[in-house]
Amino acid sequence: MKIGYVQTSPTFSEKTQNFEQVKNLLNNIKADLIVLPELFATGYTFISKKEAESLAEDINGQTAQFLKKLSKITGGVVIGGFIEKDGDEIFNSAMIVSKNEVIGTYRKIHLYYKECLWFSPGNKPLRIYEVNNVKIGIMICFDWFFPETIRTLALLGADIIAHPANLVLPYCQKAMTTHCLVNRVFAVTSNRIGNEVRGEDDFKFTGGSQITSYNGNILSSAPTDKVYIKFIEIDVIHARDKKLNSYNDLLNDRRPEFYLL
Ligand code: ACM
Repeated sequence: MKIGYVQTSPTFSEKTQNFEQVKNLLNNIKADLIVLPELFATGYTFISKKEAESLAEDINGQTAQFLKKLSKITGGVVIGGFIEKDGDEIFNSAMIVSKNEVIGTYRKIHLYYKECLWFSPGNKPLRIYEVNNVKIGIMICFDWFFPETIRTLALLGADIIAHPANLVLPYCQKAMTTHCLVNRVFAVTSNRIGNEVRGEDDFKFTGGSQITSYNGNILSSAPTDKVYIKFIEIDVIHARDKKLNSYNDLLNDRRPEFYLL
């Protein structure tokens, strides 16, 4: 199957322009799984909860409509970040869309820095979405810092981790090689580039979107400062065989009775 990322340079709060950039980058692309960055349509650096709320949507909003269109044009499952409104709360979420359907949303469980001022922490369990016989787990950006996230998705049977991101720290890409190796899963980290100077914050997003293989190999690494897309053929069968040799199976060999969680 063909999986990949779209590394964008969103303009803060300009949803239509940001949709357009994604659409143009994916011109003529057919793929099975397309991962877009965290908060790809809104930007990241909010200065108040009110501002974030003003850009929030439910699963029938503009972003859902856009992702449905994209899924139809590309033929693939599309996953991208958005601000999810649910009653009085908003979440830093990612939506998974296939054809004309929003299959679900994942609400980021580990909020980074001031995100806790705008967003409620994710309140839904980690889960797997099975589409076309492929098991997809979702985590968002800073979730990578907590190895329990990807381990849980691996234990739930994930073949591929879809990882929308707005990375500002320089560690994730390297860390994902180990995360993928020790969980024997593929991952698509879709990051953004550019700067956002808003309020007292000045973020530089690190690009370097990455497709990481089940054995820790990096299958694609985007530039740190350019808009970029990449799609790669993979076979998820490799993620389903957790045997390292005839004696070791990395999930069965775990000794949870010795672990603290
Ligand atoms: C981040 O979690 N967006 C740094």
